[in-house]
Amino acid sequence: MSTDYDSVDYFTDPSLVPDPHPYYDHVRAKDPVGCPITNGVLAVTGWEAANAVYKDSENYSSCVAVMGPFTPLPFTAEGDDISGLIEEHRTEIPMYEHMVTMDPPQHTDARSILSRLLTPKRLKENEDFMWRLADRHIDEFIADGRCEFLAAYAKPFSLLVVADLLGVPEEDHEDFREAFGAERPGSRIGALDHETIATNPLEWADEKFARYIEERRASPRDDVLTSIATAKYPDGSTPEVIDVVRTATFLFAAGQETTAKLLGAALRVLGDRPDIQKRLREDRSLIPTFIEECLRMDSPVKSVFRMARKTTALGDKPVPAGTTVMVSPGAANRDPQRFDNPHEFDLDRKNVREHIAFSRGIHSCPGAPLARVEGRVSIERLLDRLADISIDEDKHGPIDDRRYTYEPTFILRGLTDLHITFTPVG
Ligand code: HEM
Repeated sequence: MSTDYDSVDYFTDPSLVPDPHPYYDHVRAKDPVGCPITNGVLAVTGWEAANAVYKDSENYSSCVAVMGPFTPLPFTAEGDDISGLIEEHRTEIPMYEHMVTMDPPQHTDARSILSRLLTPKRLKENEDFMWRLADRHIDEFIADGRCEFLAAYAKPFSLLVVADLLGVPEEDHEDFREAFGAERPGSRIGALDHETIATNPLEWADEKFARYIEERRASPRDDVLTSIATAKYPDGSTPEVIDVVRTATFLFAAGQETTAKLLGAALRVLGDRPDIQKRLREDRSLIPTFIEECLRMDSPVKSVFRMARKTTALGDKPVPAGTTVMVSPGAANRDPQRFDNPHEFDLDRKNVREHIAFSRGIHSCPGAPLARVEGRVSIERLLDRLADISIDEDKHGPIDDRRYTYEPTFILRGLTDLHITFTPVG
């Protein structure tokens, strides 16, 4: 196992996957504001500096947000302002069609369609669905007294919550479960072996949504899909069908894997920390803070990327236009300058909501309220219906010697599997 963190390649080295934090601590100690790592990348691992970069969309473009330094740029960055070059070649940059890589004004338009969807009324209806869905999934495995939690609950739950949010009719939910079960969106993004998305993993959903949207435009109904289909841009113009479709289907990529990883991290804590499980059972009002501390400790998004579009600076380091900057919520959320005893899981942490697991600035996660409710509802129902939630020692080893496997990516942090045992209640 490599420990020479100065020469470790963050983007390929599997030894950093089980626990990236010693590496982040090393990089942060050298320079929290902009530390050169491999591939010509500057790493921002300090909380303060990460916030500053996220909020600076004037100097930083999101065009490389997901692929980072592995975005094959169709131009050579020259001069102190490459904004024009980025715009000229944007459609040749991988993932350009998704809002996460867009810059204003296209980004503002895409978010405006989304805001039609994330209304308080819709979120409330979606929460009602979550309570039913949680029970439905638990019903499927409760009698066994054990399950692999990610496949049995976290993944299908987070998938179908997005499907419901988008107004996918319930009779189509099984099709979604099947289609997304095979090749999960985003599962190859950021993979250490770099065999990343040669094809669009959301193609199936794109086609399905194109049909929904076209149908609703032709004959509007009283449903969520119609309100998405008929949404207009802020200037009053009507988006192309494909733009609406991509806004919708990107929610599966952005919202499923991430939330499933949060739920997996939360259940691991319940199993590894019977003291915390006990406190939550005795006082359910602690659940929201518990979820926030899970997000801080095990941020499902470890890192995102920006490209300096203008020559700028990070601290005393010049940042030439064209430089790729890695902003790491995973690292920033354990910055000792911001969080006391950052590597401790603390259910009483006062400033826990200052974590940046959902990023900040114009790209900050629009699904954050949803993910938080998904966490709260799931933990409530799991505690209600499963007593003595424990980690399956046959699969993960005894409490003082656990073996967990994490997905080998440099972008996301999440368990590959989590086997639990429990006593069914009632
Ligand atoms: C625990 C769960 C989640 C985490 C940790 C998370 C994290 C993030 C982060 C860090 C970003 C910002 C990327 C950047 O700054 O470049 C982001 C963006 C985004 N997230 Fe989430 N997310 C979660 C759940 C969701 C859910 C449930 C949805 C929707 C159903 C969603 C939809 C989106 C979208 C659409 C974007 C792009 C926003 C933009 O570019 O303006 N996310 N998320």
